[in-house]
Amino acid sequence: MNNYIIYIKNIIMCDQIVDFTKSIEFDLEGKFTFLDKKTDDNKTFFRKHLYGSSENFPNHEQKICEILKKNKHPNIVDIYEVNNKYIDIELVQPIIKLTDKIKYKMNDVAKFLRKLGIAYIDWKDDNIGIGIDGEPKLFDFNCSGIFDTKNNIWISEPPECYMYRNLKKHNNKSIIYIDEIAFSKGLK
Ligand SMILES: Nc1ncnc2c1ncn2[C@@H]1O[C@H](COP(=O)(O)OP(=O)(O)O)[C@@H](O)[C@H]1O
Ligand SMILES: [Mg+2]
Repeated sequence: MNNYIIYIKNIIMCDQIVDFTKSIEFDLEGKFTFLDKKTDDNKTFFRKHLYGSSENFPNHEQKICEILKKNKHPNIVDIYEVNNKYIDIELVQPIIKLTDKIKYKMNDVAKFLRKLGIAYIDWKDDNIGIGIDGEPKLFDFNCSGIFDTKNNIWISEPPECYMYRNLKKHNNKSIIYIDEIAFSKGLK
């Protein structure tokens, strides 16, 4: 891929150049800054501060990252650290184009998440990046929900985000069906 295009695209999308050599911090005001830190095994990372998460009331993203830290998938960002203030995750670059290959891999991610009781919901190319290994990686679990896979009921319903609001008319359908619609609408 053309490095110049990646460079421009990164500047437009996140005001930062994701060259994997520096960690990046994303604060609650939506500001990006470089962070002079690495993981214990010397990896750079993306630190996202969590809005409204506390010790007794972890938000969706914290809860889901706790599950994903134990259940890894090559096309989901690696979770290095999670607490009620921030998550430290694998760095990615924005994708240039949503290809059929990426959609195919994301379909596998969707199935993997549903087996874990996670309905991702917020499917869109903005939430998919390319890791240093060249693989597409899903991130941003803020608008996802957690459900009981046996009884097909929400344990932790997704918050009111754009995609979920538009799916309310299907709430007589199964959670997996709702997530399938979100996938086909979001990753057309
Ligand atoms: N792992 C990551 N590596 C590099 N940039 C990231 C990473 N995660 C998020 N970003 C950047 O931060 C932006 C916001 O992150 P995201 O988790 O999608 O939060 P939200 O969309 O809820 O604000 C993304 O659009 C992307 O530009
Ligand atoms: Mg996002």
